[in-house]
This record gives sequence, C-alpha cells and structure tokens, in this order.
Amino acid sequence: MEKTLVLIKPDAFGSNHTGDILKMYEDAGFKIVAAKVMQMTESLAAKHYAEHIGRPYYPSLVEFMTSAPIMALVLSGEDVIKKVRALNGATNPVEAAEGTIRKLYAESKSKNAVHASDSPESAAREIPIFFSACEIFD
Ligand code: CDP
Ligand code: MG
Repeated sequence: MEKTLVLIKPDAFGSNHTGDILKMYEDAGFKIVAAKVMQMTESLAAKHYAEHIGRPYYPSLVEFMTSAPIMALVLSGEDVIKKVRALNGATNPVEAAEGTIRKLYAESKSKNAVHASDSPESAAREIPIFFSACEIFD
C-alpha cells in the first residue's frame, strides 16, 4: 500500500487541532501506520526541507518548524500521496479550497498547519528522516 509522510506543524499542533486533522485522514479511509510527537531540530529541518535551502522564506520556515512540538505521521492507503495533498489544500490558505485542512486551520502561507509528501519519490526520501523501519506498522 502507498505511504506518505505528514507533519502536523507547530501552529496546528499547538492550537489542539491534531485530533480534528487525524479524524479527517481517518474518515478519508487512510491508516495511521506511524506517529510520534517530537520537536524538529535545525539539522532535521534542513534535511527535510533541503530543496528550499536558499529560498527567501527558508530561515523563517526553519524558525517556525523548530519553534515547538509537531506530530509526525506515516499514512497508508490507496493513492494516499495525491489524496492527502488534496485534503490538505493549497500551500496558501487564502487559495485553499473550502473544507480542506489548510482552509480550516492554517493562518498563513508559512504557518499552514500541515505538510505532506508531494510524490512517491518525496515520500520515500522523507519517511526515513522521521521514522525507522521498526516504527512503521503496515
Ligand atoms: O508545503 P507545500 O508542499 O504545499 O509547499 P512548498 O512550496 O513545498 O513549501 C514548503 C513550505 O514552506 C510551505 O508549506 C510553507 O510552510 C513554507 N513556505 C513559506 O513559508 N513561504 C513561501 N513563500 C513558500 C513556502
Ligand atoms: Mg512541498
């Protein structure tokens, strides 16, 4: 079964929307096969967001992502990568469709509640950054 990495970012985790967000993923039929509460370090953020290093928003992105705890998840299901991206909504909540997680819970383009892998290649790269094989129950 396909797997994707999801992060419930410091804004949504800190404002107690984790349960609401998990419910949306479960209601969509996806299985939580790994989960942990953790706080990202600068080096973990650099690894995860490697393709964004050098972008103007990169320093504030790292500052935000390392500022407080997050929940990291692996979700499993048919077509989960594409479908979770759709459930999350557009990066900028102003552009996110009604009913999406970012429309409901994101406050800005940077503090935007959730991350999800954008392709099978990204999922394969990102999942091992956060979880070892023995922490994934598929
Ligand atoms: O997360 P997503 O794949 O939708 O967007 P991205 O373009 O890959 O950017 C990764 C993350 O960087 C976003 O989710 C935002 O948190 C942050 N970002 C930002 O703060 N300002 C931007 N102009 C673009 C992205
Ligand atoms: Mg992205």
